[in-house]
Amino acid sequence: MHLTTHNPESTFQLGLALGKKLSPPAFVALSGPLGAGKTLLAKGIAEGVGYPAGEVHSPTFTLMNMYPADQGRKRMYHFDFYRLDSPKDFDGLGLDEFFYDPGAIVLVEWPEKAGSLIPHNALWIHLDFGKSEQERIVRIEGDSA
Ligand SMILES: Nc1ncnc2c1ncn2[C@@H]1O[C@H](COP(=O)(O)OP(=O)(O)OP(=O)(O)O)[C@@H](O)[C@H]1O
Ligand SMILES: [Mg+2]
Repeated sequence: MHLTTHNPESTFQLGLALGKKLSPPAFVALSGPLGAGKTLLAKGIAEGVGYPAGEVHSPTFTLMNMYPADQGRKRMYHFDFYRLDSPKDFDGLGLDEFFYDPGAIVLVEWPEKAGSLIPHNALWIHLDFGKSEQERIVRIEGDSA
């Protein structure tokens, strides 16, 4: 599925709608170049899951932020692999514990860096720049059970 958003708010709203529909186990791979809108989309998804977007920040330095289930909300992990480069960087991280957590919603920015570690049933959302400054092309593929 292909769609275009014309401003940051619509990308956020798209995430919000998706987040409301997700239930564990769910894996969402958010790909696209720097500044494409991966984190903004993740914030929308988080808000849809029940975590206020204002409390959601990309884990660029920590690799992962965990949102523990409480108040009826689903557990959520938000990863950002921007700073990892070689497959070796992934050795020993124990990602499977999180990636295959049956009770969690998993969001991953820069998923291609993790290569084959990304589960096969992931929902892939590719973001790209459009013709104008505020335009983004969003391509959604795959299925997260
Ligand atoms: N239609 C749009 N959708 C999403 N973001 C947009 C759009 N138009 C402009 N923007 C701007 O693009 C930027 C997207 O930033 P964001 O941090 O979400 O990108 P990112 O893909 O996570 O980048 P990074 O790879 O650095 O983590 C924001 O400043 C946002 O306001
Ligand atoms: Mg980001």
